[in-house]
Amino acid sequence: MNGAMAKLDQCLNMDDMRALAKRRAHKMVFDYIDGGADDEWTLKQNSRAFENYSLHYKVLAGVGQPDLTLSLPGAQANVPFILAPSAGNRLFHKAGERAVAKAAQKIGAIYCLSTLSSFSIEAIGQQIATPKWFQLYVWKDRGLVRDMIARAKAAGFSALILTADLPTHGNRERDPKNGFTIPPSMGVRQILEALKRPAWTWDYLTSEPVRFANLMDKGPAQSLAQFVHDQLDQSFTWDDAEFILSEWNGPSYVKGLVRADDGVKAIKSGFEGIFISNHGGRQLDGAPAPIGLVETMRDRLGDDITLIVDGGIRRATDMLKAKALGADAVSFARPYLYGLAAAGEAGVSRALELFYSALLRDMVLLGASSWQGIDGRFVGKKKT
Ligand code: FNR
Ligand code: LAC
Repeated sequence: MNGAMAKLDQCLNMDDMRALAKRRAHKMVFDYIDGGADDEWTLKQNSRAFENYSLHYKVLAGVGQPDLTLSLPGAQANVPFILAPSAGNRLFHKAGERAVAKAAQKIGAIYCLSTLSSFSIEAIGQQIATPKWFQLYVWKDRGLVRDMIARAKAAGFSALILTADLPTHGNRERDPKNGFTIPPSMGVRQILEALKRPAWTWDYLTSEPVRFANLMDKGPAQSLAQFVHDQLDQSFTWDDAEFILSEWNGPSYVKGLVRADDGVKAIKSGFEGIFISNHGGRQLDGAPAPIGLVETMRDRLGDDITLIVDGGIRRATDMLKAKALGADAVSFARPYLYGLAAAGEAGVSRALELFYSALLRDMVLLGASSWQGIDGRFVGKKKT
């Protein structure tokens, strides 16, 4: 076993994985994964808010092998966690989205490809069989929106996720401080940092510059904030969302909601599901932690809508709390991105396997024989 694999084997949780990513990846790309908006209050709350809930386990419940299978509009999966869309994965490791998609397929998880991926819709479409979903940002150029929807459909993606919480780019101060651009450009400071990270730097020097592959964009290196400002439509409305749904004409989710009244609008517009999410604390700092919103959303929106929650999930017990509070499934990005930055596909697989084995163990401890059967009787709330 080589050194990198041995270190991966010693990772027992997502903090360990994060530490390994920090050692291998250039500071500017590690901070792009790890950071959030403004003071990173929301980013911290996302994880901390799980502490407001406790798990009320049953004993002698006769749990044999827990059933983790998941059935949602647009996918059947072996596990109840979904790999959330994330931009530009080749920034973190040269195998990028290909590595993540392969690891997701291996464990039988739903994989979401970002609009801003660094391998194309077609490349990932061919690489893995379902379940795979496509995430859309709304471009000023509606022709491009139509075109992407058609490409995702042709490439076999089985659900569309419209991300609604990025009308403009959040204020992530680590990025300009690091001089981070896409593709990364190297001034003196970045070169000095690169020398400390030889494995990442070798990737950087020996691969094609990272681009947003779905856009065939060959423009100059620029900040993501500038790119989003120039290209995305910040005056987008629910009426426009209906145009997208009619183009797609299949299972659909809207991502980035924190309000129940927006949930009502999502249902009225025709979405089958919602990602309760604040974009991992990367957009509006001050936004509430998603886990604290699940119960209200479920009460207000009823049982027919699919609720997926993301933000701050770092333990299988976080997933169990989300399900007990009323979510159908959970999702995350940083845990698998730390794995990718640490060790490519093997790192992503390690992160997913840690979650998988922990879920199996923790469901036995909880006294729950199926994911589907975890309900409000398993969760308690801290009195505030
Ligand atoms: C993201 N996220 C994201 N969301 C999206 O809809 N499209 C995208 O392209 C991206 N890109 C992206 C890049 C990186 C580096 C991160 C960390 C996140 C948000 C992501 O899908 C998800 O909502 C949050 O990351 C969930 O929080 P955790 O699990 O990272 O705490
Ligand atoms: C991000 C965008 C691209 O969070 O979604 O970095």
